This record gives sequence, C-alpha cells and structure tokens, in this order.
Amino acid sequence: MSQQLFKPGANTIAKLSLLTGALLAALGLGMLLLRNWSPFVITGNYAGIAVAQPVRFSHELHSGTLNISCMYCHQVAEVSSYGGIPDTHTCMSCHSQIATYSELLQPVRDSYADGTPLTWLKVHDLADHVYFNHSVHVQNGFACETCHGRVDEMPQVWQQQKMSMGWCLGCHTAPENFIRPLEDRYTFGWVAPENQVEVGRQLLQDYQVDTEGLANCSVCHR
Ligand code: HEC
Ligand code: HEC
Ligand code: HEC
Ligand code: HEC
Ligand code: HEC
Repeated sequence: MSQQLFKPGANTIAKLSLLTGALLAALGLGMLLLRNWSPFVITGNYAGIAVAQPVRFSHELHSGTLNISCMYCHQVAEVSSYGGIPDTHTCMSCHSQIATYSELLQPVRDSYADGTPLTWLKVHDLADHVYFNHSVHVQNGFACETCHGRVDEMPQVWQQQKMSMGWCLGCHTAPENFIRPLEDRYTFGWVAPENQVEVGRQLLQDYQVDTEGLANCSVCHR
C-alpha cells in the first residue's frame, strides 16, 4: 500500500502558494514602478541615500521648468572649492512674493523669521581623505552636468556618478573626452561633437589646463 505523501488538500495549498507568490511578485513590481513615478522617491544609479530634506525643494521645477540658472543659487561653485548651498535669503528673494501661502514653504519662512538656517542633508559626501575643488574644474570647462547629471530634471537631487577614485581618474587621465567650451558649462542635455577628442585637446590647450601629473596621489590625497 503506497503511503500517501500529501494530504488531499496539499495540491490546493501548492496552487495557492504559487498564486500568492505571483501576486507578491506583481505587487513588488507595482511598488517598484510606483517608486519611479513618485516624484519624491530618489531613483538613479547611485541613489543609496534616501534624503528627507526639510523642504521639498525641486530642481526640476526651479532649474528645469522655471529655468533659473544653477549660478543663481550655487555661485560659489565657480570661485571656491565648494558647490555651496544657498541660504534662506536666496529663497526669499522670490518667495517673499511667490507662493507666500504655500505650506511647503513654511519652514523657509520660519527660518527667515528667526534666522535659523535650514539644515539640508548632504547628498554628495566624499571621504574626508579626498581633496576636491569645484572652481578648478568649473573654470576650466568642466560642466555641472558631467559630474552631477541632469539635475534640471531631478525633483530631488540624487548622486548620478559613483564618485569613486576610478571615476575621478577616468577623467584625470583623459580630460579631452569631457572638456567643453566654457559657455557650455551650465548647459544641460549637451551633446559632444563627433570629434570630441580633437576639440577637447584644443580646448585643453586654449584654456591652458595643466594636465601633467593629474593622476598623482598627492593631487587628491594631501
Ligand atoms: C533656487 C535655488 C537653486 C537652483 C537654481 C539650483 N539649486 Fe542646486 N540646490 C539648491 C538647494 C536648496 C539644495 C539643497 C537641497 C537639495 O539637495 O535638494 C541644492 C542641492 C544641489 C546639489 C546636491 C548637494 C549635495 O547635498 O550634495 C547639487 C549637485 C546641485 N544642487 C546642483 C545644481 C545644479 C547643477 C543646478 C542647475 C541645474 C542647481 N543645483 C540649481 C538650490 C538650487
Ligand atoms: C528666482 C525665483 C525663485 C527662487 C530664488 C526660489 N524659488 Fe521656489 N519657486 C519659484 C516659483 C516661481 C515657484 C512656483 C510657484 C507656484 O507654482 O505657484 C516656486 C515653487 C516652490 C515650491 C513649491 C511651492 C508649492 O506649494 O507648490 C517650493 C517648496 C519652493 N519653491 C522652495 C524654494 C526654496 C527652498 C528656495 C531656496 C533654496 C526657492 N524655492 C527659491 C521661484 C523661486
Ligand atoms: C569634476 C566634477 C564636478 C563638477 C564639474 C561639478 N561638481 Fe559639484 N560636486 C562634485 C563632487 C565630487 C562633490 C562632493 C564634494 C564633497 O563631498 O566634498 C560635489 C558637490 C556639490 C554640491 C554639494 C555641496 C558641496 O560643496 O559639497 C553642490 C551644491 C554642487 N556640487 C554643485 C555643483 C554645480 C552647480 C556645478 C556646476 C557649476 C558643479 N557642482 C560642478 C563634483 C563636481
Ligand atoms: C570630467 C573631468 C574630471 C573629473 C570627473 C574630475 N576631475 Fe579633477 N581635474 C580635472 C582637470 C582637467 C584638472 C586640472 C585643472 C587644472 O589644473 O587646470 C583637475 C584638477 C583637480 C585637482 C587639482 C586642484 C588644484 O588645486 O590644483 C583636484 C584636487 C581634483 N581635480 C580632484 C578631483 C577629484 C577628487 C575628483 C573625483 C571626485 C575629480 N577631480 C574628478 C578633471 C576632472
Ligand atoms: C583624481 C583624484 C584621486 C587621485 C589622483 C588618487 N585618488 Fe585615491 N581616492 C580618490 C577618491 C575619490 C577616493 C574615495 C573613494 C571612495 O570614497 O569610495 C580615494 C580613495 C583612496 C584610498 C582609500 C580606499 C578606500 O577603500 O577608501 C586609497 C588607499 C587611495 N585612494 C590611494 C591612492 C593612491 C596610492 C593614489 C596614487 C597612485 C591615489 N589614491 C590617487 C581620489 C583620488
């Protein structure tokens, strides 16, 4: 007499669990899609950091739709080592007149009223043993877009590039692949010319960019 391995109901249970599995998978996919649709969930390549900012500030709105220049808020990127985060006064230069009743802007108005700066969380944060300088890159024809991606399309900023040592060196050993005419430093959606390498070499010369020893350890580790 063959022993019954499975109770009569087992087949149903197996079917049910298959069904449940399929449902869960569908749900998971749905959630992934939702994640991509929802404007304030970070997506992108290296978007490990879920940043809960004090204000839902959107670059897509301000830089994309409204076309406000990066330099309106990040002027210091051109002249200092930092990218620089604008202070509340910069926001209020518009928002003392625009969207004054917006609840989303309440923290900005509070900060303006009592002088306490907003505490924006960092998205990019290189290891402390690495030295980086914005102005030396920006002033020599390296674009925000090259290192930060399409910020003008980001509802919330995410880190587009891995910013590992290998990534830095990829350009330090071949900057002709990335350099642009200075007037295109703040252009987004820029397309490199077909003969970029030639043009790039020429630009490096024209702008007198010092490409000697850019891969030396002491350039970035001081
Ligand atoms: C109206 C002001 C404003 C404009 C215009 C603006 N930004 Fe910003 N930017 C901010 C604020 C505020 C933050 C901090 C909050 C955040 O991370 O979204 C920020 C953050 C960033 C960060 C991430 C900083 C970090 O924490 O690592 C990058 C990169 C950046 N901006 C690049 C750009 C670029 C490129 C442009 C032009 C396309 C631009 N921004 C235009 C205000 C602005
Ligand atoms: C050059 C002008 C300008 C500057 C500077 C500016 N904004 Fe705006 N902002 C706007 C405009 C225009 C809108 C769209 C208002 C609307 O849709 O009614 C807007 C919308 C917003 C909204 C959405 C409001 C809502 O209820 O939908 C937020 C939040 C916001 N800005 C935050 C900021 C912050 C934070 C800063 C400073 C880092 C800033 N803005 C700087 C012009 C500006
Ligand atoms: C060659 C690459 C490169 C270019 C070009 C570049 N950035 Fe950055 N940016 C970085 C790196 C790397 C960091 C992280 C720095 C750190 O954590 O010390 C950063 C950080 C920032 C930050 C955060 C604040 C800070 O200083 O840490 C802002 C804002 C920013 N960049 C804006 C800009 C803007 C605007 C432009 C164009 C004018 C630009 N960056 C061009 C590489 C670049
Ligand atoms: C897209 C190209 C590009 C990328 C990406 C890039 N760099 Fe550079 N960097 C350059 C070029 C070109 C120079 C030389 C500019 C000059 O001296 O005229 C330079 C110069 C420097 C300098 C010398 C500054 C000085 O004061 O002399 C430092 C430091 C530096 N880069 C750090 C970094 C780090 C760290 C990273 C990665 C997080 C990085 N760079 C990514 C192109 C790049
Ligand atoms: C163009 C800039 C640049 C140059 C040149 C450079 N590094 Fe780095 N290095 C970096 C960055 C950026 C990181 C941080 C990577 C990270 O946080 O993941 C790093 C990290 C490191 C680390 C730590 C590794 C770790 O896991 O955190 C060591 C060790 C190191 N570098 C050694 C060197 C040596 C040795 C040289 C010369 C042969 C060198 N680096 C040249 C940018 C540079």
